[in-house]
Amino acid sequence: MTTLLYLCLGLIGIILLGMFAWRFGSRWYTLPCPVWLRWLVELDNPFTKTNRSEVIVRHLDLQPGMAVLDIGCGPGRVTLPVARQVGPHGKVVAMDLQPGMLRRAQERAQAENLGNIRFVQTGVGDGKLDVGLADRALLVTVLGEIPDREAALREIFEALKPGGVLSVTETIFDPHYQRRETVIRLAGAAGFREKAFFGSRVAYTLKRSEFQLD
Ligand SMILES: C[S@@+](CC[C@H](N)C(=O)[O-])C[C@H]1O[C@@H](n2cnc3c(N)ncnc32)[C@H](O)[C@@H]1O
Repeated sequence: MTTLLYLCLGLIGIILLGMFAWRFGSRWYTLPCPVWLRWLVELDNPFTKTNRSEVIVRHLDLQPGMAVLDIGCGPGRVTLPVARQVGPHGKVVAMDLQPGMLRRAQERAQAENLGNIRFVQTGVGDGKLDVGLADRALLVTVLGEIPDREAALREIFEALKPGGVLSVTETIFDPHYQRRETVIRLAGAAGFREKAFFGSRVAYTLKRSEFQLD
């Protein structure tokens, strides 16, 4: 019995150590969520309600015809519901570093006959986003994976229309979890101001606007 307890504690310790190593390694190297773990992302977060795609999309106040950037879209968990909401006159740019993630998102979009998504394989901060065209930008459990978060947020700021909104979602179950204070500091330096906060310390969505609208 005691051996089993030690084994379990050891396993938990190894997992926690791995999570911290991954998190801190991401400060200097690009260490994105591996493609073989995409099934975990696609579970649509069974642990926290705030990070579920349906809840994130509800807080975006989307209108048909809007242009949305889903940065670090992964396997398309949030991309697809966003594309449905903006409709055929709207458009979604689904951006990710990893071709395997984009392929999966593309397959799912094809299965649903969604023709309003453009898939782009690049890293945010590399200067590939069009300037001033987007109504909304999403960073759902992505920010902590980006080595140069300042450059990424500056590029997103430039990509939004005046009054456009960036929605950042974080959950503590992600090894790259970013505290609310960190997001406020980084996004504030890029020119964003806080507009709304939903959730708790464990999981939240922070809406940031290019201008203070409230
Ligand atoms: C944890 S997954 C989240 C996927 C999706 N946003 C979701 O919540 O379902 C993080 C994704 O961000 C992507 N990513 C990491 N760094 C990136 C960067 N610099 N530019 C674009 N995508 C990035 C990874 O490849 C991965 O697919």
